[in-house]
Amino acid sequence: MDEFWPLFGLRLAFRDVLLRPMTEADLPRLAAVLPADAGHDPRLAMYESQTYAENERRLFCQGYWKALGTWSPESWVLHFAVSHGGELVGVQTLEGDDFPALRTVDSASWLVPAVRGRGLGVAMRTAMLQFAFGELGATAAITSATTTNAASLGVSRRLGYAGNGISRIVDTGGDVVELQHLRLTRDRWPGAEVPVAGFAPCRPWFGMAG
Ligand SMILES: CC(C)(COP(=O)(O)OP(=O)(O)OC[C@H]1O[C@@H](n2cnc3c(N)ncnc32)[C@H](O)[C@@H]1OP(=O)(O)O)[C@@H](O)C(=O)NCCC(=O)NCCS
Repeated sequence: MDEFWPLFGLRLAFRDVLLRPMTEADLPRLAAVLPADAGHDPRLAMYESQTYAENERRLFCQGYWKALGTWSPESWVLHFAVSHGGELVGVQTLEGDDFPALRTVDSASWLVPAVRGRGLGVAMRTAMLQFAFGELGATAAITSATTTNAASLGVSRRLGYAGNGISRIVDTGGDVVELQHLRLTRDRWPGAEVPVAGFAPCRPWFGMAG
């Protein structure tokens, strides 16, 4: 499929993690280990016929298909499968909305609980940020997490994001929670040694000359 969708050939490496765009073949394994706290868009429909976990796995798969089916160089969502020690351990998502004009990327991520708290969250976000600020020419990266999500906020703080306001949302359980917004600009990014392979044929997918 790389001939028709060169993104499948993209590889980012940093320390002990490897990021490559998710493929259809990754869905069963990743959906099976999807953690309960991975989260989903609370606006999406939940089916009464499915348990909460089944709904979340279905929405995870739909999110993968939606990203491919709606990709345009102006607005795109790229889901990276994250490997560590040869095992799939999570997902790092990179998103560019009106990207050629705004040059701003958003992100989200999750890891299986067994590998959390060892710096992998920082490593995969670092790989993503270097790719965004380097190859893609982003000028800012934003993200958000609930004010109680210490691990996600810890990754952002460690990588130099600054507070960018707080909003209130209704979460997936129907509760009102506070969301901390964060922003990192390219001038504050120290850079990281992230070998990137397979990017050249992907350039038009991001609105860049081939
Ligand atoms: C968010 C997530 C990807 C972070 O990955 P991780 O591997 O656990 O995080 P790291 O080990 O890289 O830690 C990053 C920083 O946060 C801190 N941290 C991690 N877990 C923490 C916790 N539970 N409480 C407080 N601080 C924590 C670490 O000390 C580290 O800071 P430091 O480098 O200054 O010491 C992971 O915890 C996860 O999958 N969480 C569930 C899904 C989620 O909430 N995703 C984010 C929503 S978009």
